[in-house]
Amino acid sequence: MHCAIFYETANANPHRGAYALSVRATECYHQSRVRVAQFLGVRDSDCLIFTRGTTEGLNLVAGAWGMANLSSDDEIVVTAMDHHANFVPWQVLAMRRGAKFRVCELTPDGKIDLDFLSSLLNKRTKIVAVSHVSNALGTINPIAEVARLVREKTDAILVCDGAQSAPHFPVSFDSLGVDFYAFSGHKMLGPMGIGGLIGKREMLEEMPPYQTGGDMIEFVHDDRTTWNVLPHKFEAGTPNAANAVGLAAGRRVSRQDRHGSCALSRKSADVRGAGAALGDRRPPHLWAAGQRAERSSELHPRRRASPRSGDNSRW
Ligand SMILES: Cc1ncc(COP(=O)(O)O)c(C=O)c1O
Repeated sequence: MHCAIFYETANANPHRGAYALSVRATECYHQSRVRVAQFLGVRDSDCLIFTRGTTEGLNLVAGAWGMANLSSDDEIVVTAMDHHANFVPWQVLAMRRGAKFRVCELTPDGKIDLDFLSSLLNKRTKIVAVSHVSNALGTINPIAEVARLVREKTDAILVCDGAQSAPHFPVSFDSLGVDFYAFSGHKMLGPMGIGGLIGKREMLEEMPPYQTGGDMIEFVHDDRTTWNVLPHKFEAGTPNAANAVGLAAGRRVSRQDRHGSCALSRKSADVRGAGAALGDRRPPHLWAAGQRAERSSELHPRRRASPRSGDNSRW
């Protein structure tokens, strides 16, 4: 199924009604979560929270976990290669809580300086945020090595910005070694305004909600409210079910293109932009070597994949 079919056949608010359309919307939304979770290697699909994208996923962790757990004695570590989405929320959180905000420098060839990182880590470090792949440099960061350092030297949570890795190579959250992983649908052939945050169940359960309102509640009394179970606790209000369906369809195309995409990641720096510049409509991994353009400030070329024509299958 894709977004348009959702609007034609299931356009209703999930979880809220006993009528047929709502039941169908609920099922579509649930199936989308299961399929995207499978794609990103999460066995427990209730630990995948749909968000507007990577930015909202990272803000969710900063706002919910960070505001509840950070104090003025604590430190946050990010790196100099991080996208603003994985930099500013932590900087603002540090300012709000009076915590120290520390930036890990890079090596001259654009990698995280692991010695520098190690020197920043200590028992006061409460959050370490790194990108899996840099949008500016194309660097694929050694998340396992970063995780090893973080676990060895701190009790911090490790947050991974997956905006550029989720679309471009196989990711298994369950074996990545991080506590939270955020991604964006529009970077993986899905619609804009949808993405997700994956977190470890125990952390998501322990965290307070990010936003409050309908759908995320269990019981509401005049003097207190209790929270719904995962994933609903973090999805207040009417969800973007149509775009979740579109994201699940997009990741199907993304998987078809996966081998090309992986090769692309390795060559990313010199490939970027060639197709657009030359008006080439083929996927970038099919461009001739001579068509590769100069290095650009963004990592990945825009891929122009369209859903298979004549594909009417629901999923
Ligand atoms: C590495 C990285 N992180 C975060 C983002 C922010 O993603 P979004 O705008 O979809 O929230 C981007 C977008 O370009 C990105 O490349």
